[in-house]
Amino acid sequence: MIEFSGVSKYYDQDIILKDVSVSIEKAEMVFLTGPSGAGKTTLLKLIYCAERPDEGHIVVAGWDIRKLKQRTIPFLRRNLGIVFQDFRLLRNKTVFENVALALRIHDMHPTEIKEDVFEVLKDVKLSHKANTYPAHLSGGEQQRIVIARAMVTKPTVLLADEPTGNLDAETSATIMNLFRDINTRGTTVLIATHNKSLFQGTGCRILYLRENQIEKELIG
Ligand SMILES: Nc1ncnc2c1ncn2[C@@H]1O[C@H](COP(=O)(O)OP(=O)(O)OP(=O)(O)O)[C@@H](O)[C@H]1O
Ligand SMILES: [Mg+2]
Repeated sequence: MIEFSGVSKYYDQDIILKDVSVSIEKAEMVFLTGPSGAGKTTLLKLIYCAERPDEGHIVVAGWDIRKLKQRTIPFLRRNLGIVFQDFRLLRNKTVFENVALALRIHDMHPTEIKEDVFEVLKDVKLSHKANTYPAHLSGGEQQRIVIARAMVTKPTVLLADEPTGNLDAETSATIMNLFRDINTRGTTVLIATHNKSLFQGTGCRILYLRENQIEKELIG
């Protein structure tokens, strides 16, 4: 589902990723960890084409990233659910609208949109907040809405960068359960995090990034 072969990435003269090769299978759930500045976010950005590799090949859900033109990137992203700090909720839209927006580009009938939005809001246990604005939600609730928005299109791949950032242990556990459910339904999930407690005991594959490379692979 995600294939890196011989991928290198520089920012100016600084090498961030050096000759990275890794393969993530369909319906796998994998964690990416390693010290701050190791390149976790950069690796995820290469997958959704916010950054381009300087060397090597990347294939995501059958798309060869190297051949992708700028105007084709939105088509790739329709297959991806992205839970990133810089993919924030829109402040002037309600929770319902924030989640529904992801479907509007898919040309769906309003009744169908409503059904799908309420289904994911139910999954994240926030149906009762549908008409609320993001500013009136707690951090954990906002994060669950970001996840609902990423899930609503039923993506083939879900990417998450520090999805439990500043959340308490209980809310983090709720969010991890959500990811596990999404994964059980067949979505490939890749989560970047420093937080060992998110992957310890999961039995998932852990990619440990250090000094520009995947230094080791472990089982959580
Ligand atoms: N747009 C950019 N331009 C220049 N350098 C960058 C850019 N983005 C990231 N970097 C640098 O690349 C390195 C890797 O950054 P990245 O954000 O991928 O690390 P990370 O592993 O996600 O770290 P953290 O755990 O702190 O989130 C860092 O040294 C960072 O300063
Ligand atoms: Mg990061």
